[in-house]
Amino acid sequence: TIYLGAFVHSVALKELELQEKGAIGVDDNGVIAFVERDVQSIEDVREKHAAFKEADVVEVKDGFFFPGFIDTHTHAPQHPNTGLFGQTTLLSWLQTYTFPMESSLSSLPLARTVYTNFVSRTLSHGTTTCAYYATIHVPATNLLADICHSLGQRALIGRVCMTSSLSPPTYRDASESSALADSLASIQYIRTLDPSAILLHPIVTPRFAPSCTASTLSSLASLASSTHSHIQTHISENVSEVELVRELFPECTSYTHVYDTAGLLTPRTILAHAVHISPAERHIIRERGAKISHCPASNTALTSGCCAVREMLDEGMTVGLGTDVSGGFSPSILEECRQAIWVSRFRAMGGGDRVKISTEEALYLATRGGAAVCGFEEQVGGFEVGMLWDAQMVVLDVVDEERVGERGGFEGKGGVDVFGWETLGERVQKWVYSGDDRNTVAVWVRGRCVHRTGRFKG
Ligand code: GUN
Ligand code: FE
Repeated sequence: TIYLGAFVHSVALKELELQEKGAIGVDDNGVIAFVERDVQSIEDVREKHAAFKEADVVEVKDGFFFPGFIDTHTHAPQHPNTGLFGQTTLLSWLQTYTFPMESSLSSLPLARTVYTNFVSRTLSHGTTTCAYYATIHVPATNLLADICHSLGQRALIGRVCMTSSLSPPTYRDASESSALADSLASIQYIRTLDPSAILLHPIVTPRFAPSCTASTLSSLASLASSTHSHIQTHISENVSEVELVRELFPECTSYTHVYDTAGLLTPRTILAHAVHISPAERHIIRERGAKISHCPASNTALTSGCCAVREMLDEGMTVGLGTDVSGGFSPSILEECRQAIWVSRFRAMGGGDRVKISTEEALYLATRGGAAVCGFEEQVGGFEVGMLWDAQMVVLDVVDEERVGERGGFEGKGGVDVFGWETLGERVQKWVYSGDDRNTVAVWVRGRCVHRTGRFKG
């Protein structure tokens, strides 16, 4: 297939490539075979690339192709709680909303409904790779893997481990040995479902330090190492949580030290939040090669704090974005871009312009940054020869028939109003601030179309 028309992608943290007349050739395995710029005609492209003489053409008009988004941290079982957090903060929120909801996902019919709905929804917002927490239940976790596989999303899927007595008796692993056996069972299931890891990757998931004993944390690090799995957990999200970790692990000097002692800080580790870590902790995390998932919507909703993203980027840490549903209220990484920009601007009001995150930087975190957080930077996140076609078609002037008012006016335009005079760069800015899933009219993972709306003509 040849994808014809404008394309936009990040080429550096602060730089987007804006190509008005592009043509990207994708082979039958979903691999990008060529990227042409300043294309005069489709015939020229076919001429130059003989293998594509008969290829289908998918053309974008009034928009552009953009790499699929990468969500480096979210919780599929918390989707039904979206928007429900009231006045709680992390520890009361977990007890009030989260643990009861997750516990109910032991029901497979309920899990099927929730997971099918959530995975479809993230795809509709252009998320082509997603790092999921499931629950402690093996059958429901495996079902989430089945659903990602059949809907065609690239995913990291983790069975959540919770062995400490702080977890509710009704939602807790029976013992450390059963937690390890259940985690291994889920890893093996995912590896059997997708033996070549085309789409699916298991990820070892200690929920966070307070929900696991020191011994469980070390055993899970060994499990990840022996099975060559990724690791994900939460770190230093909220002040009371940090205090609790200090009480639970008095022999450790910091939250980061707890995970480092256990051997959980590896180049395949995704740490969500990292709001209250010190410069010394950042140093250890960077030394170990572990990665950061920045979850600004969640950090604001649960009033956890403002993450020092500028400092992390300056120091060369690897950072991506996470929706953290349902601490976060949206399954959309485009929304998370806005939130990352917003939080940085609140920081700037007290601390100077230097900390502001630009639109270009937010889009980098949403694509290349997220890819690097998951260790997939050679495969996805940009449009380069040899990378995979994980992409979305963004169309700005979509008309939503049901929203055409009786008296006309805005004519039911979805998401973004464009007037024709904008440059491609301005269109991207408008999309970031006022776009939504109506503008993502088609989504591909590895060259396979996994979502399309009625506006997609291709
Ligand atoms: N810390 C431990 N569990 C969770 C969770 O489910 N969500 C968030 N945001 N933080 C956590
Ligand atoms: Fe989370």
